[in-house]
Amino acid sequence: LDNGLMRTPPMGWLAWERFRCDIDCTDDPKNCISEDLFIDMADRLSEDGWRELGYVYVNIDDCWSSKQRDEKGRLQADPKRFPGGIPKLSRYLHDRGLKLGIYGDMGTLTCGGYPGTPLDKIEIDAQTFADWEVDMFKFDGCYSNETVQEKGYPLMSKALNATGRPIGYSCSWPAYQGGLPPKVNYTQLGEICNLWRNYGDIQDSWGSVVSIVDWFFDNQEVLIPAAGPGRWNDPDMLIIGDFALSMDQSRSQMALWAIMAAPLFMSNDLRTISSGARSILQNKMVISINQDPLGIQGRRILKEKSNIQVFWRPLSDGASALVFFSRRSDMPYRYKTSLKKLNYTTGSYKVYDVFTDKTTTLKDSTDFVVSVNPSGVVMWHVSAPAKLNQRHFDRRGNA
Ligand code: GLA
Ligand code: GLA
Repeated sequence: LDNGLMRTPPMGWLAWERFRCDIDCTDDPKNCISEDLFIDMADRLSEDGWRELGYVYVNIDDCWSSKQRDEKGRLQADPKRFPGGIPKLSRYLHDRGLKLGIYGDMGTLTCGGYPGTPLDKIEIDAQTFADWEVDMFKFDGCYSNETVQEKGYPLMSKALNATGRPIGYSCSWPAYQGGLPPKVNYTQLGEICNLWRNYGDIQDSWGSVVSIVDWFFDNQEVLIPAAGPGRWNDPDMLIIGDFALSMDQSRSQMALWAIMAAPLFMSNDLRTISSGARSILQNKMVISINQDPLGIQGRRILKEKSNIQVFWRPLSDGASALVFFSRRSDMPYRYKTSLKKLNYTTGSYKVYDVFTDKTTTLKDSTDFVVSVNPSGVVMWHVSAPAKLNQRHFDRRGNA
């Protein structure tokens, strides 16, 4: 969507995967969906180095609202759990250089059973969010149908625009229609949404991450052309720092989300995150690959019989990123290849290993070996090739 927002994939924190619909603030005050939870995360983002790296959105998901609209028909936050209302939160975030995201649903009810935003409520809800100074809106699709979605998703886009407030727009529409053409029209999505969920919900398991990765790369020929500045495929939240992923698997999720030019919304507990998970999420080179200004989504270029897969993403200034991903379960695998075999043209390249911080120089024709851990990755940033020889060329390119 050409609203000037999200020219690189949005980054931040989103409540859903980690905190779900926990509304029990009596017995579980630290983890329930309440203004305290979002204030805690905002404090962590601004005090622990996240904001400076680009993690600026703090996004409320389902179960924030009261079960009833107010007397004027507007959505309202649950008064017990959000005593200051949403405006208090947006002020708190804006004061700290952060942005607020909120959640709604096309249907009669949200997925969690809270009031939905059916067609006749789209304008009033868009206006309410703008009045509250919300910066992003995720529009879910539970309890709606194909016909309603076809009207509602474009209508909400118009309604948000008509408020005059820049509001990033995340559409769950394709996820409810199987994610593929002809049912899904990615040209239209790119015109009306800044990002969209293509596929099912991520869960706190490695199997869930792998099924998402496989779906996105199996369908890359459809998905790659859909992505670009202002319009992103969304494979769902980062679960790094939660309970399921090993450090290798965490690096894999981070590397592959960077190759996919995916939005980076963490759903974890920033108050208690381990230093290992933090350093993966705060890795500057991975983030800069994810945030490359060209915004070209990367692709899987090889699926080896050895169960090593290779991914590649073109970056600005002639650079590129490579990921070697092991789907093995035995031991670190010594994968032998050369840049030439990975379609790199003649030249000598500076190669930076994103997770070990080591730089080497490699000629296209030189065989090398990378050791890839089970369910882990090796990720490289490859700079534009230096000329092999320094002879001068005339304007026709003759030596
Ligand atoms: C759907 C969405 C999730 C989350 C929940 C909330 O399942 O896909 O991301 O928003 O609803 O109920
Ligand atoms: C070509 C290939 C890509 C990639 C690059 C590397 O463009 O089509 O898949 O390997 O080369 O430079």
